[in-house]
Amino acid sequence: MTWKTAVAAVPYGGAKGGIGCSPGDLSRSELERLTRVFTQKIHDLIGTHTDIPAPDMGTNSQTMAWIFDEYSKFHGHSPAVVTGKPIDLGGSLGRDAATGRGVMYATEALLAEYGKSISGSTFVIQGFGNVGSWAAQLIHEKGGKVIALGDVSGTIRNKAGIDVPALMKHRNEGGQLKDFHGAEVMDASELLVHECDVLLPCALGGVLNRENAPDVKAKFIIEAANHPTDPEADEILTKKGVVVLPDIYANAGGVIVSYFEWVQNIQGFMWEEEKVNMELHKYMNSAFQNIKAMCKSQDCNLRMGAFTLGVNRVARATILRGWEA
Ligand SMILES: NC(=O)c1ccc[n+]([C@@H]2O[C@H](COP(=O)([O-])OP(=O)(O)OC[C@H]3O[C@@H](n4cnc5c(N)ncnc54)[C@H](O)[C@@H]3O)[C@@H](O)[C@H]2O)c1
Repeated sequence: MTWKTAVAAVPYGGAKGGIGCSPGDLSRSELERLTRVFTQKIHDLIGTHTDIPAPDMGTNSQTMAWIFDEYSKFHGHSPAVVTGKPIDLGGSLGRDAATGRGVMYATEALLAEYGKSISGSTFVIQGFGNVGSWAAQLIHEKGGKVIALGDVSGTIRNKAGIDVPALMKHRNEGGQLKDFHGAEVMDASELLVHECDVLLPCALGGVLNRENAPDVKAKFIIEAANHPTDPEADEILTKKGVVVLPDIYANAGGVIVSYFEWVQNIQGFMWEEEKVNMELHKYMNSAFQNIKAMCKSQDCNLRMGAFTLGVNRVARATILRGWEA
């Protein structure tokens, strides 16, 4: 997260924390109690100017609402202590879609470098949760053809392009992917090696490894999930000429809009959704240009360029503050 926020030029550091459980197996009241007890344990470690949690896999705006409420019992009304909150509790418009929207902007910027666009490309997406479903909807809106898609409830394909809004409706009504009528069911193990222009892993880490990397047919991989490509796969893909857009840039849209939410909470002022999306676009494009310039000056690939950019920024700040050893 530290390198990600540095690449995005957001004035945050970075950390991750979590609870080892399967949220899907817990009732709403169990989830609430678990989140509140977790917050009681960490309330002295987090804070408006110390550490600001946000949703990730297995959590959502309701989880953030419980954190905000529990934290406020100890420290007084503090909406800025947590981001990704429901809009009614000071959440930002556009936060729910932010990571997926950032993925779409990142994809657009990368494809443009190669004279391509979303509308002329085919996409395969793993994961249909927060990130995957928003990325799929926004890519579909831009005219991109999502030809295969999978989550824990099934893996499906349609050469002519999946009707993503219809799939969203099906899922929101409680349907499983495998029961969607607008596509045929396929083997989950074939998803990541399916023919396509752009592959978007939007689920788990480590899904691209030395076993499946040699068979990947995509020309571009957008790392919407965190660390979906293990180092061996990265080497194999680079040798094959596959262009990999690294996670520390590709999925930074979520933390960028978390930053916007924090800014709004501190200002006590709510931005319109249009402004949120416009600012997100600016941040994503500017980060892409900076990574590109780094790749050019260091003659390196996008992952090395992004890390060099992030690490250099943190190093510069460290030296300026007089912290060097
Ligand atoms: N939510 C954010 O703002 C955010 C920001 C940055 C990065 N990420 C990363 O993006 C990824 C997805 O996060 P999310 O918030 O969308 O999570 P989520 O819990 O909303 O959705 C996860 C999705 O992955 C699917 N999935 C789980 N196991 C799978 C498997 N074995 N095969 C296929 N699909 C599987 C689930 O069915 C679900 O559709 C994670 O790696 C997360 O760390 C999320």
